[in-house]
Amino acid sequence: MLKLHDVTKTYDGKSEVTALTGITLTIEPGEMVAIMGPSGSGKSTLLNLLGGLDVPTSGAIVVAGQDLAKENEKDRSLFRRSKISYIFQAYHLMPTLKVSQNVALPLHLAGVSSGEITRKVARVLQEVGLETRSNHLPDELSGGERQRVAIARALITDAPLLLADEPTGNLDTARGEEVLSLLRTIHREHNTTIVMVTHDHHAASACQRLIKLRDGRVEGDSAIGGGK
Ligand SMILES: Nc1ncnc2c1ncn2[C@@H]1O[C@H](COP(=O)(O)OP(=O)(O)OP(=O)(O)O)[C@@H](O)[C@H]1O
Ligand SMILES: [Mg+2]
Repeated sequence: MLKLHDVTKTYDGKSEVTALTGITLTIEPGEMVAIMGPSGSGKSTLLNLLGGLDVPTSGAIVVAGQDLAKENEKDRSLFRRSKISYIFQAYHLMPTLKVSQNVALPLHLAGVSSGEITRKVARVLQEVGLETRSNHLPDELSGGERQRVAIARALITDAPLLLADEPTGNLDTARGEEVLSLLRTIHREHNTTIVMVTHDHHAASACQRLIKLRDGRVEGDSAIGGGK
């Protein structure tokens, strides 16, 4: 599903920062992987590269058979829309749109018909247990509910790859547990490949494999026997 070969990412700015150095790794279809590491170790940078939100300075990234580094911006964004969904720590919901409209956004962008959108929105809201909240605004929801809306929005395109940056980072233990259990269910039922950045060992233990980053390098990569 994902192959990285000798990937390096350097940010130019006032001072040059090398966020990733020589990352080589493969993630198979259907794996559920946790990425951990100290703050600044390059976790979000890695996730952004995997999601095609940014390009590596050098090295190759192949996602679902496609070399992302070789694509232009337009092709990359088309590819991203169909193959990859993203869950952010801070939810990134549109405050003026109702839950159902937030969830429908990726399909609107893809030009899907309104009948199909209505059907799919109903399906994914049910999947995350929010069918009774479809007319609410994000402000009217709890943090855990907002994250479930973000997950519903990620699910709606049926993308085979789900990337999550600290999906439980803003939630208390109980709400975080609900989100983790939802991700595990998605993984089991849709065989979605999930890559999740987390600071939380408990969240990582929901995964089958743990990749540890330190100073932009892979420090450890091992099976941890969680998941399913
Ligand atoms: N847009 C940017 N421009 C310059 N430097 C950046 C940029 N984004 C990240 N960095 C730097 O790259 C390094 C890795 O950042 P990254 O956000 O990937 O870390 P992280 O592991 O996700 O940390 P955290 O756990 O705090 O979210 C850091 O030193 C950071 O300061
Ligand atoms: Mg980060």
